[in-house]
Amino acid sequence: MADPQEVLSRRVQSALGAAFGPEFADTDPVIRPSQFADYQANAALALAKRLGRKPREVSAAIMEHLDVSDVCREVEVSGPGFINLTLREDWIAAQAQALLDDARLGVPEQAPKNIPLDYSAPNVAKEMHVGHLRTTVVGDSLARTLEFLGHNVIRQNHIGDWGTPFGMLIEHLLEVGEDSDQAKLLTTDPNAFYQAARTKFDESGPEADDFAARARGRVVQLQSGDEETLRLWRKLVGFSKDYFNKVYGKLGVTLTDDDLAGESTYNDMLDAVCDDLESQGIATMSDGALCVFLEGFTGREDKPVPLIVRKSDGGYGYATTDLATVRYRVDTLKADRILYVVGAPQAMHFKMVWATAREAGWLPEDVETTHVQIGNVLGSDGKILRTRSGAPVRLVQLLDEAVERAAAVVAETRPDLGEEDRAEIARKVGIGAVKYADLSVAHDTEYTFDFDRMLALTGNTGPYLQYAQARIRSIFRKGGVDPEQARGQITVAADAERALALKLLGFGPVVAQVGDLLQPHRLSTYLFELAQSLTAFYEHCPVLTADSEAERESRLTLVAVALQVLVQGLDLLGVESPEHM
Ligand code: ARG
Repeated sequence: MADPQEVLSRRVQSALGAAFGPEFADTDPVIRPSQFADYQANAALALAKRLGRKPREVSAAIMEHLDVSDVCREVEVSGPGFINLTLREDWIAAQAQALLDDARLGVPEQAPKNIPLDYSAPNVAKEMHVGHLRTTVVGDSLARTLEFLGHNVIRQNHIGDWGTPFGMLIEHLLEVGEDSDQAKLLTTDPNAFYQAARTKFDESGPEADDFAARARGRVVQLQSGDEETLRLWRKLVGFSKDYFNKVYGKLGVTLTDDDLAGESTYNDMLDAVCDDLESQGIATMSDGALCVFLEGFTGREDKPVPLIVRKSDGGYGYATTDLATVRYRVDTLKADRILYVVGAPQAMHFKMVWATAREAGWLPEDVETTHVQIGNVLGSDGKILRTRSGAPVRLVQLLDEAVERAAAVVAETRPDLGEEDRAEIARKVGIGAVKYADLSVAHDTEYTFDFDRMLALTGNTGPYLQYAQARIRSIFRKGGVDPEQARGQITVAADAERALALKLLGFGPVVAQVGDLLQPHRLSTYLFELAQSLTAFYEHCPVLTADSEAERESRLTLVAVALQVLVQGLDLLGVESPEHM
């Protein structure tokens, strides 16, 4: 057990039980990092009220029963009744040593849950925008983290692959030729294809054989399952898949074709969704549409806002499909916890869908649903990021630019490396920088996309963390030691050494916290702090030129653990670790 906070919690709890009786043994001892010691236990303050005694008296009673001599070298009551706890150096060293032989690096193995994880979800024949980039990057990091914690993550890429625009898209595909260069635009510049179809549609006249009329006819054929129409639809979706996979490949995300579960997969369930809601009296007809009116969902002038499950023309919409996702994920995927990593503006939609599903009995109380809300990515003008001409930014170009910019830096800093090595570093740094920018801020906040800032080698950036691990590797290269073979005895003496070792013990707890709270930025913050502890460590504690062989061994082993933690941590974020930088 390497988590000091957890160890101290349990020790203080048993003291509480011994001092005040077994009913106090599960009281939260409120262990927090402290300014004056490593930690402080604040339990006495809350307990004083409950016990009708003075906080300092309560602390004294806890102290009498507190047995931490193997963990702490100093325990004292301060202020109104805090208990300050200072860890023993040999205890910290032993815990850091234990990490070396722990493949999980202190990350707890949790009881496995089935977790359908809905993320990325771009739309067919449309550009993936920076919003999709962020749901992809955050979702993928959560997938990696939850898997590492032992869960069964079931990736669900809910692509937008169905709906009325497909009539016009299919007709356009037929006109330009299924395998023409124009059709291939779908794999490189999907918006250009979409816009061309849209323009034709909008400029189409009222005649029955006009483009718009044919497009509408196509929608009917698509919905009635016409074989030829379905074939063309599949072709369209296939092109888009190629495009998505190109972006996923560049990004290094874990999504594959097996994870696709687009809107169309739920087509066969939609009739039943509506029928069941209607027969249960949950949905009612209103202005020709089948609607659910939920308590507490009102708009302007307190007018109830309906969740429309069947439009007046008989068509189904986004809400109907998402009701089906709930049923499918609960019934078929046996979900314990369902996560939707989707833009923040859809918060109301999900609340209404889940409230409806709960009422219909499709979503049992013990299945938790969470909307991991994704904030907007802004341009330097403070508006949603767009190109100068106002068009949506093309993601592939954006990623390529990041790599190019990184390449320019690497060309300057590492002229000694071969071209191939430099290109590889540039790719990892450029992509890592973009991904890390999404992961270093709380997922629901907005942030400004800024190449210069995300590629900076200082500050809380991807390149800074990548550099921190590359620097450790370079120490090992210089010392002629393989980091995997570093198996010395860790001792901690110097302050910076102690701080680094203690920081390493925080990895397991923070990963568990990311899994619970679904906040990857907490891991980013942790890794950033770890990298800062390393910088302070190098300043005060020479590694290869340490005073004694034992000290050198100890420090090499300590940074070997730091290397493992950094690489593992970055991997959970989905950021690669270059060998050199
Ligand atoms: N395709 C949607 C969009 O681009 C996101 C879908 C999210 N997932 C879901 N189950 N609704 O906004």
